[in-house]
Amino acid sequence: MSDSTKQRKADHIKICLEEDVQFRASSGLEKYRFTHSCLPEIDYADLDIQTAFLGKSLGAPLLISSMTGGTAQAQQINQRLATVAQAYGLAMGVGSQRVAIEQANTAPTFQVRSIAPDILLFANLGAVQLNYGYGAEQCQKAVDLLQADALILHINPLQECIQPQGDLNFSGLLAKIAVVCEKLNVPVIAKEVGNGISAAMAKQLINAGVQAIDVAGAGGTSWSLVESQRAPNDLLKQLGRTFGDWGIPTAECLVDIHHTYPQMPLIASGGLRNGLDVAKSIGLGASLAGMALPFLQAADISEAAVIDRVELILAELKTAMFCTGSRQLSDLRQVGLLVKSPT
Ligand code: FNR
Repeated sequence: MSDSTKQRKADHIKICLEEDVQFRASSGLEKYRFTHSCLPEIDYADLDIQTAFLGKSLGAPLLISSMTGGTAQAQQINQRLATVAQAYGLAMGVGSQRVAIEQANTAPTFQVRSIAPDILLFANLGAVQLNYGYGAEQCQKAVDLLQADALILHINPLQECIQPQGDLNFSGLLAKIAVVCEKLNVPVIAKEVGNGISAAMAKQLINAGVQAIDVAGAGGTSWSLVESQRAPNDLLKQLGRTFGDWGIPTAECLVDIHHTYPQMPLIASGGLRNGLDVAKSIGLGASLAGMALPFLQAADISEAAVIDRVELILAELKTAMFCTGSRQLSDLRQVGLLVKSPT
């Protein structure tokens, strides 16, 4: 891997951990509250948080969102996360594997299958690379390198605008995504990186053949602010700040897409910070709930810190289920249970 790519990966982790690069605007989830049930009429011990996604069983509806790979630090983070994902039956994504495709010696920093033989594991590439020499062959390679169950194609036009020499040719991408969907031997998931996917965009992606959508909406880590922090000149720094709050709030993406495509497997992410956010996301139609920054912060400390974080998220999710009388996850979608406050 080139020194500049290595530096970029290291910068991303350092900036996310040390700087305030969170959206000022919210994910929209705080506008919803569950109707409390003082008589749940269920035994807490009977709560069932198991689920399935893209045909694979999960111990909980939780995804460790795509983040990193490529450096020794990234490898340690991926390994800590994968160990805990295996223990709890969580889904996990790795960061963009472009470096692993281009420089084979970096592939091991992504490869967690030996640590996590049973998890639902997602490969990751930027969709825009399909306009820069990549095709189904490179996508399949990313999947094979990881022994992944699906490929996430992330779509990040705003982030590319704030990067020096960003990849800005997004023309004709949809047709190329369709070819990848057709040729790959695993499902393709379309994902933003924190600016959200509208129902109109979801329609195009679904027609192109993607089998799931991760809305990665606004409200959490802002990649415009991250790139602004590492921008080499004042123009890009200010551009990143101007668009720091740009995007469709996560809750809005979920409601719109689920309303239009109730059968489409949806992943909620972008600003989810606890198990109550997970419960609300499921109530709004998601099948899985993803978090990036909270898991990065924990993995930076230790494997035990990741376990503590997962335990807390699961306790929060189960408490929300118990206090709404929801024995299983689908019960969180009962009509009238999740209420939007009028303000
Ligand atoms: C990311 N994210 C990301 N997404 C992706 O599809 N490919 C990638 O390589 C990365 N890299 C990456 C690095 C780091 C350090 C972070 C924190 C995040 C984006 C991530 O998956 C997610 O969409 C957003 O961060 C929003 O989620 P949170 O952080 O608000 O939970």
